[in-house]
Amino acid sequence: MHLVIFSGSVFGTADEVADMAEERCRAAGLQVSRLKPATVDALLEKNPDAILACCSTTGMGELPANIQDFYYEMESRFPLLTDKPFGVIALGDAGYCDTFCQGGEQLRDLLLDVQANELLPMLQLDAAETVTPVEDAEPWVDEFITTLQSR
Ligand SMILES: Cc1cc2nc3c(=O)[nH]c(=O)nc-3n(C[C@H](O)[C@H](O)[C@H](O)COP(=O)(O)O)c2cc1C
Repeated sequence: MHLVIFSGSVFGTADEVADMAEERCRAAGLQVSRLKPATVDALLEKNPDAILACCSTTGMGELPANIQDFYYEMESRFPLLTDKPFGVIALGDAGYCDTFCQGGEQLRDLLLDVQANELLPMLQLDAAETVTPVEDAEPWVDEFITTLQSR
């Protein structure tokens, strides 16, 4: 089972969550390719069995700059990832009520649009509620791994 993990981050928190996921997935025996930065060519070249995206939100509901090129290129090239299982971990701050976790939502919508198959409901990590997002995401990552491996 080959998993691609990538992240979109401004201050590095989503990257840290992705690092944790990479470590846990490897420890569970998955083959992991970490795309840093995410590019459409690298994703298609890896042709993974599954995808995990970790993404924060910036501005007023915007994607971090380091994932915008990926997002827009995916939108324009629109490579179908039919039935490919994916999960999204979204980082945000509920203080931004109208745009809470919108970066993650955008990535999720994009992956659904290219016909990928959401494995678990998106995890939302709220910076207003927790200062330990990496630890908080561990149970979700473990469930993601178990669900993937039981397919
Ligand atoms: C300038 C700025 C704008 C932000 N805008 C949003 C937003 O619109 N929606 C949201 O849910 N969180 C927003 N956040 C919160 C971040 O997404 C959150 O703190 C996240 O954990 C940062 O992760 P990162 O270190 O990977 O960038 C914003 C944070 C900053 C500093």
